[in-house]
Amino acid sequence: MTEDKIAVIVLAAGMGTRMKSNLPKVLHPVAGRPMVSHLLATVAALSPERVVVVVGPGMEALERAVAPHPTVVQAERLGTAHAVDQARAALAGFEGTVLVLYGDTPLITENTLRAMLARRAAADAPAVVVLGFTPAAGGEYGRLLLGPRGGLDGIIEYKDASPAQRALPLCNSGVMAVDGGALFGLLDRVGNANAKGEYYLTDIVALARADGRACAVVEGDETELLGVNSRAELAAAEAIVQARLRAAAMANGATLIAPDTVFFSWDTVLGRDVVVEPNVVFGPGVRVGDGVEIRAFCHFTGVSVGAGCSIGPFARLRPGALLGEGVHIGNFVEVKQATVEDGAKINHLSYVGDARVGAGANVGAGTITCNYDGFDKHFTEIGAGAFIGSNSSLVAPVRVGDGATVGAGSVITKNVAPKALAVARGAQMELPAWSERFRARHQKKPDPQ
Ligand code: UD1
Ligand code: MG
Repeated sequence: MTEDKIAVIVLAAGMGTRMKSNLPKVLHPVAGRPMVSHLLATVAALSPERVVVVVGPGMEALERAVAPHPTVVQAERLGTAHAVDQARAALAGFEGTVLVLYGDTPLITENTLRAMLARRAAADAPAVVVLGFTPAAGGEYGRLLLGPRGGLDGIIEYKDASPAQRALPLCNSGVMAVDGGALFGLLDRVGNANAKGEYYLTDIVALARADGRACAVVEGDETELLGVNSRAELAAAEAIVQARLRAAAMANGATLIAPDTVFFSWDTVLGRDVVVEPNVVFGPGVRVGDGVEIRAFCHFTGVSVGAGCSIGPFARLRPGALLGEGVHIGNFVEVKQATVEDGAKINHLSYVGDARVGAGANVGAGTITCNYDGFDKHFTEIGAGAFIGSNSSLVAPVRVGDGATVGAGSVITKNVAPKALAVARGAQMELPAWSERFRARHQKKPDPQ
């Protein structure tokens, strides 16, 4: 059999009332991106010919998020069969395998989907392949009704099931791979005379069997099939994705001293021999080069860190921080929208934003680039090899030339020439023995009553 073409229908019409949110449920992020985007990325690996997302009314934000994939609006939530039927026009003429996925079940893996497609391609050509699973805690899932030879004869929804059926361990995950040539003909025959008064997609199994078609089950792992209906389940999904990302980071050659305390985004890239100490958070858009040491309690978003850097503890690297190689960023340092070139050091208690720090420059403790005047942002340039003394303010726009020195405690408002020394602070004065006289005068006074 030649490989079947694939189309995908993602059901995402539910607002997710239990989330108690203004955001459609499937837009809630897991590891820094919407759960539906995780699902679409997994599906993309299968190179589907078409992908259609079924949304609810007024979900323009979701439509934008899944673009360029087309969406169809299910005006009324009449059940999963009705939802799938909304994609009928979008899939007109499609004859391959249709994968039906739930937008709120984002953790399913490519391997599992491939196993379902492989089962669809088997000699008995099952009309419907259902992804089953055996939840440890049972639960109110539809139950899979197996025939004497292990084929799938039907699915009974929990609300419609007898006590004996409810006791069956194998449950319906909701994910299906369906013969695209048969799908919409089967849907035409689905009614809603059941406990919920809904059009159940699950009914297509018994209908296909009545037509003499085989149906089959592929078993999946419960952790892949977690459905997110509440904030607590969102947190559970996050935990599963974080566990996967930690395992991948370690498999790729990073050391995580306390993996459970390190949080990644879906797109975090760590090089080889990166060491991450406990309690580090990677927001979206972070790339870390080889051999970087990240000490405890650092926070990164939208940054690139060159090979051999040492970061933290307690550093915050914000969007647009571009660190060259061998840069040192120490404790309580914030860097934003700034290029820090090779070998530069910003080791203590500093804010460097909208700036360039040249190679080998040393930015002393407590240095602040004063980049914002309440209206606009201005740029600070620190030349290669410059030395900024502690507790200096660089009032942007301003430039400190290559190899220049700024004296500690300076407020620099004018450009400093290369190799020059600039000192901009009150001059020190001294009155000999003043303290002694002062104390003596006070000791003569009577105690105030
Ligand atoms: C469904 C299955 C059940 C399975 C369970 C797994 C049916 C009839 N039942 O039940 O066998 O064990 O999932 O979680 O299919 N949706 C729409 N439009 C609708 C109805 C649903 O888009 O009209 C979407 C929902 O947003 C959700 C998914 O389809 O993503 C499943 O709907 P839900 O109501 O949660 O189905 P269950 O009753 O859980
Ligand atoms: Mg459900």
